[in-house]
Amino acid sequence: MFKNLVAAVSGAAAVLAVVAVPASAADDVTAKVQVCSACHGQEGVPINATTPIIWGQQQSYLVKQLHDYRAGDRSNAIMSGISKGVTQEDLRPVAAYFAGKTWPAGHPANPAPAAPATVAICKACHQPNFEGGPPAPRLAGLSYEYLLSAMNAFADDTRTNNQDMPKFMKALSAQERDTIAHYLSAL
Ligand code: HEC
Ligand code: HEC
Repeated sequence: MFKNLVAAVSGAAAVLAVVAVPASAADDVTAKVQVCSACHGQEGVPINATTPIIWGQQQSYLVKQLHDYRAGDRSNAIMSGISKGVTQEDLRPVAAYFAGKTWPAGHPANPAPAAPATVAICKACHQPNFEGGPPAPRLAGLSYEYLLSAMNAFADDTRTNNQDMPKFMKALSAQERDTIAHYLSAL
């Protein structure tokens, strides 16, 4: 009986030892995310303005987006295909990898632009500095082009992977969304 218990415990320890291989697991993720740099940038600066910054983005948000692209809940000609190359079990390590990077320094306007009155409501979820917090993503410093396209996609129901955002975006005029995108990109 005791012998069996010892065998079971040391067996479990051996399994744990095999599972806990941090060094090679990290190498493994690094290899898997190489492909992402082609568009999202070697140093976190995307190669074009329509591609969002993912370095330093909120981890829970990154997990959800990769999951949503894979599941077809968020659709994009590029990311829908690429996300299928990331397995379900790799979603969290890949998201953790990018969330753990530092948001690339942009060129914040100096002095900071005056906030349009329409952004007050956004702070409840995107936080007063617009750097996000679970489950809302960071918006400060994303490009004007990407912000506008994301906001418009919620407003015209092409992006439907959230309950609240379409409602907030429809409540704004196209001109107000444009003003907000300019403001947030300059932070
Ligand atoms: C060929 C270019 C390209 C490659 C390669 C690529 N992406 Fe993207 N990615 C994009 C574009 C463009 C978007 C914006 C899509 C949209 O508007 O829905 C995007 C969006 C995203 C988003 C959503 C970010 C947000 O703010 O909502 C995540 C997360 C993401 N990509 C992760 C990855 C990961 C992880 C990889 C590697 C496995 C990767 N991407 C590879 C072009 C690319
Ligand atoms: C009730 C909370 C809440 C409020 C208020 C809110 N948002 Fe969001 N927003 C979210 C969440 C959560 C997401 C992530 C949705 C998803 O899962 O794709 C999001 C996503 C976004 C995105 C997409 C970012 C990306 O990387 O693709 C933009 C842009 C955005 N919000 C802008 C705004 C603006 C501008 C306002 C104010 C007018 C606002 N939001 C108000 C919760 C909120």
